[in-house]
Amino acid sequence: MNSSGKKSLGREVRILGTGSCVPDRVLTNQDLERMVDTSDEWIVTRTGIKERRIVGPDMAASDLAEVAGARAMKAAGITPTDLDAIFVCTVTGDHLFPSTSCLLQARFGAPQAFCMDVSAACSGFLYGCETASAFIASGMAETVLVVGVEILSKFTNFEDRGTCVLFGDGAGAAVFGPGPGPHQILASHLGADGRFGSLIELPAGGSRRPMTHEALEARQQYLTVKGNEVFKLGVRGMADACIKVLDQAGLAPDDVDLLIPHQANLRIIDATAKRLEIPPERVVVNIDRYGNTSAASVPIALDEAVTTGRVHEGDLVLMVVFGGGLTWGATLVRW
Ligand code: UT7
Repeated sequence: MNSSGKKSLGREVRILGTGSCVPDRVLTNQDLERMVDTSDEWIVTRTGIKERRIVGPDMAASDLAEVAGARAMKAAGITPTDLDAIFVCTVTGDHLFPSTSCLLQARFGAPQAFCMDVSAACSGFLYGCETASAFIASGMAETVLVVGVEILSKFTNFEDRGTCVLFGDGAGAAVFGPGPGPHQILASHLGADGRFGSLIELPAGGSRRPMTHEALEARQQYLTVKGNEVFKLGVRGMADACIKVLDQAGLAPDDVDLLIPHQANLRIIDATAKRLEIPPERVVVNIDRYGNTSAASVPIALDEAVTTGRVHEGDLVLMVVFGGGLTWGATLVRW
């Protein structure tokens, strides 16, 4: 299926392997209590987050992406020379350019792979998956590595309690290939509404507002979030995207064995699952340990579900995302 909901005439596409990587350093709610006027109680009740992982000053997106990508390739039983393409989904890449995917290609030694970064904020991973699927379905690529990675800690104002409690760093990855078999993509849907772009943004550092002294003084190197408005749009957007892919596949929410939602806020996850009438035991939640890792959140949760044996062959797995842009998407996989 393609993003507009029409049936693809191309080949079937499968996930061949998954991997993930989070930094070792843990930033707890108690740590944040010492930094800003907040409390563990507020953070847990409003977001579900207890701790998040944060990189040290020397680490960048490509460092986490490399480990997650290598783990996904090992799980898939392939080597970097098997890759036709590398897509890195991120809004916090090492540089504005070159792309983080090109940096990864050099590190892996995969000169035959073409590379691009995918910018769709928290929805990035499913945008990358759908792009990989389209290349494979059409026969333009055989094997594609997709990595969702974010280093949001370097774009977070740790004096702003409204945002600094929300985010964490991490990377998750999946390798895609053609053919029938397990872990098959059944349907997917992507959407966007640019009219809401200012709800989540990084004001400075682009061509509209370069990183000047004035921008730095105004703290515009840090992300801003209008959380309340995103919250409402997020619940509706994620539930609608789920219904769209289920409709495409002729299935219903009751058929879903495992819902893997973007981990932005436990209340958003609960409200989305409630709308779909999917019970909590069928919903993957790890926001308590990692916070919101944006494009990394769904692939980390997927990889944890795989490595902990939470997902079984034949299960219907529904991944759903929502984030800056605004962007959203959902992908249905028969595991
Ligand atoms: O992945 C996509 C990006 N993610 C998002 O955009 C997040 C989506 N939104 C959310 O998760 C929630 O809206 C938040 C967690 C960001 C905020 O929760 P809320 O229930 O919508 O709270 P609020 O923004 O309405 O703030 C309620 C109060 C305010 O105080 P007053 O004005 O009522 O006196 C805030 O100043 O909570 C205050 N507050 C805090 N208090 C303690 C805001 N942040 C904190 C904090 N600690 N860290």
